[in-house]
Amino acid sequence: RRLKGRGVWRYKDVIAGEYNKIVTLDEGNTPLIKSRKYDKTYFKFEGANPTGSFKDRGMTVAISSALSLNYKIVVAASTGNTAASAAAYSSRAGLKSFIVLPKGKVALGKLAQSILYGTVIIEVDGSFDIAMNSVMKLYRDHKIVYPLNSFNPWRLEGQKTIAYEIVEDIGVPDNVIVPVGNAGNIYAIWKGFNELLEGGLIDKVPRMIGIQAEGAAPIAKALEKGLEQPEFVDSPDTIASAIRIGKPVNWKKAIKAMKSSKGFAVYVSDNEIITAQQELARREGVGAEPASAAAYAGYLKLLSSKKIEESEKSVVILTGHALKDPDIMIKAEAKRILVNPEHIDQVILGDQI
Ligand code: F0G
Repeated sequence: RRLKGRGVWRYKDVIAGEYNKIVTLDEGNTPLIKSRKYDKTYFKFEGANPTGSFKDRGMTVAISSALSLNYKIVVAASTGNTAASAAAYSSRAGLKSFIVLPKGKVALGKLAQSILYGTVIIEVDGSFDIAMNSVMKLYRDHKIVYPLNSFNPWRLEGQKTIAYEIVEDIGVPDNVIVPVGNAGNIYAIWKGFNELLEGGLIDKVPRMIGIQAEGAAPIAKALEKGLEQPEFVDSPDTIASAIRIGKPVNWKKAIKAMKSSKGFAVYVSDNEIITAQQELARREGVGAEPASAAAYAGYLKLLSSKKIEESEKSVVILTGHALKDPDIMIKAEAKRILVNPEHIDQVILGDQI
């Protein structure tokens, strides 16, 4: 059937909810980049969204819902990307927005975006989980505030379109590898595949594989130990600040997505994340922020432990753009040479002149 609309709203018929006003920045329809190194592996580059992360897919739906339901105030706790996206879309909608951030723990690019789009920035001492708790309490006590976090199901309705786009591009992969923080996105993507399965449009759901950072891995560790419920982490720690989350709100949904698709979760170290980020950039030409590089680090780890095969079709979800976190990029080993401008020919051509 021919689909009307663009990006996320191309799938309007399957996005639950009524929207009499749609607030869009033409999000979605992101590149699916074939790996140079691995023949059957693709990178879904969510950094190409309007504010540079997959959050825009959910935000266009959530903000449209807020506006359609006549809310005037929106609020989100964030490690940075949700904040940048919420700030942009609420500006476009003319809504008053507040974002709650863990002070000093948000990557520079994301903080700069939030300032640029003109939201009110509320900082709390402590981790993202504390910020998240305060937003949930605010919402429970004052229903006139519209919450933009991923416990809001309309966010996930937008994010599930990642699955629809992948299927349209390359059919059903064997593995979909997703970085996990608050654990909404892996569930949203699984939901998309599952709907296509139930609709008879595909014949299987890919294994949903979650990747966490070692110091913030309650879900991966729970699955590893066979626990029914994760042991939450009080002081989560990783350089991948986007997924520095100790108490993922959507843990139940994420575990359901992984178990029912015969998937699983693993964690990677900060060193593996940095190495993967550089490998992605230097061998593939793809710039992803550390949390996204964690997914690639997980993919490499699973290949070397033979938990997945190079011959399987895999999609690695690169959730955010490298520019989000300049402090990490600038620490990388670089070739920088100071020369007299008259001598650049010698530097570039060496013996050839
Ligand atoms: N990758 C990036 C770049 C993210 O910003 C996030 C979450 C994730 C992965 C994990 O997605 O939470 O659905 O499991 N960032 C949130 C934020 C928490 O506030 O921007 P998840």
